[in-house]
Amino acid sequence: MSKLVINTYNKKAKINRNIYGHFSEHLGRCIYGGLFVGKNSEIENVNGMRKDVVEALKKIRVPVLRWPGGCFADEYHWKDGIGPLENRKKMVNTHWGGVVEDNSFGTHEFMELCEQIGCEPYINGNVGSGTVQEMSEWVEYMTFDGVSPMARLRAENGRDEPWKVKYFAVGNENWGCGGNMRPEYYADLYRRFQTYVRNYGDNRIYKIACGANVDDYRWTETVMRMAGRHMNAISLHYYVHPRGWVEKGPSTDFGEKEYYTTIKKAVFMDTLIKNHLGIMDRFDPWHKVGLVVDEWGAWYTSEPGTNLGFLYQQNTMRDAIVAAYTLNIFNSHADRVVMANLAQIVNVLQAVILTEGDRILLTPTYHVFDLYKAHQDAELIDSFIQTESVGVDDETCPNLSVSVSEKDGIMTVTLANADLHKDYPIDCELVGRSIGSVSGRVLSSAKVNDYNSFDAPETVVPAKFGDFTFEGGRLGFTMPRCSVMEITIK
Ligand code: AHR
Repeated sequence: MSKLVINTYNKKAKINRNIYGHFSEHLGRCIYGGLFVGKNSEIENVNGMRKDVVEALKKIRVPVLRWPGGCFADEYHWKDGIGPLENRKKMVNTHWGGVVEDNSFGTHEFMELCEQIGCEPYINGNVGSGTVQEMSEWVEYMTFDGVSPMARLRAENGRDEPWKVKYFAVGNENWGCGGNMRPEYYADLYRRFQTYVRNYGDNRIYKIACGANVDDYRWTETVMRMAGRHMNAISLHYYVHPRGWVEKGPSTDFGEKEYYTTIKKAVFMDTLIKNHLGIMDRFDPWHKVGLVVDEWGAWYTSEPGTNLGFLYQQNTMRDAIVAAYTLNIFNSHADRVVMANLAQIVNVLQAVILTEGDRILLTPTYHVFDLYKAHQDAELIDSFIQTESVGVDDETCPNLSVSVSEKDGIMTVTLANADLHKDYPIDCELVGRSIGSVSGRVLSSAKVNDYNSFDAPETVVPAKFGDFTFEGGRLGFTMPRCSVMEITIK
């Protein structure tokens, strides 16, 4: 019997809904074919955006969407993506598959997509190969309300009203694909570029500096020391590669040991967040600067037979456990983690949706976002779960992971059981609250390698769960092996 204690007297912080954010890059079939098919496509669309994909994204309440990259962001020149389609410049997407990018999806299209999904835009500016003027004019183009050269250009392109843009990143991975910079050099460039990222009218930009890769603590230390006063947040990127960066490992054909390695690596997110926050605290003891984990997820070897530069991979119950554990970790740092963006939203890496022509499937990761969506903007409640280590040899992780939150009198408990073999009976004690009604949904499957395919899209889907007991004010239930559960308590 594992104890779960929920102390409703201790409300910890509001969970920023943007922790449930996503990322869309001009990479493979994420934008083209995944989100956007163009107005003349035979695939059902609204102003070029896939209707089926937008509907599915609305259901999980995507709060914020990052664009246009990724590595692509530091090669992107936004003026190539505005104006009449026939005049838009064609370029080679050198980072991702060497394909021709025709710029038919640009600023106006991205804003339209966000409006259709009902999410906030998060724009990533170009420091690596762009200019201060170019970045400054992009912000003016999007947000200036009045008479200005960029506002006039925007109006000529059919949009009088400025858009509201809050989240703006000054460069992406500038330690790598964004210019191979040293942190000292980037910190100086950040200070310079961000000066011209202006607030126009009542639009207020939340400036996000490029942060570290994984455990590059010197990057965080240097950028915080030199530029911490000029930013609202700093980012962190961390991907899980089961076999390492070079070999990575297949998405569906993995054994038990590799499964536990994957979850162990996913859980490392907690250590990373704690360590980076510890460094940030030295320069910002007031906690003014937030942490934005704007790229995270499992990154496997691309599916055989696909363009390897498109980063297309399948998604199994293993990915559901990765997502569930990671989102619980983000929730547990709700006081400092202000945003997180899963890489990437459609057809790339740990996607929530895969498409093939006019067909679409929802991945196990999608269903985790669905089970967790009630946490958005809810108050994180103090909870404790009794855990033990499970795994093979040294490849171990905690058997259970939990988050509890409350909003409008409704309590949401999300739990994951990473153990491949054992169900765990849970004895839940709720301190300071009575239970009116309880309902649940559970995501599990016969095998951890199971995934949803276009021929069998409902192999891994959530089911209703109602097997609860009440005894002496305690709630009892069993967490099935390798499962993710959402419990709603009213
Ligand atoms: O998400 C794929 C790539 O991973 C992004 O373009 C880059 O920022 C990161 O290295």
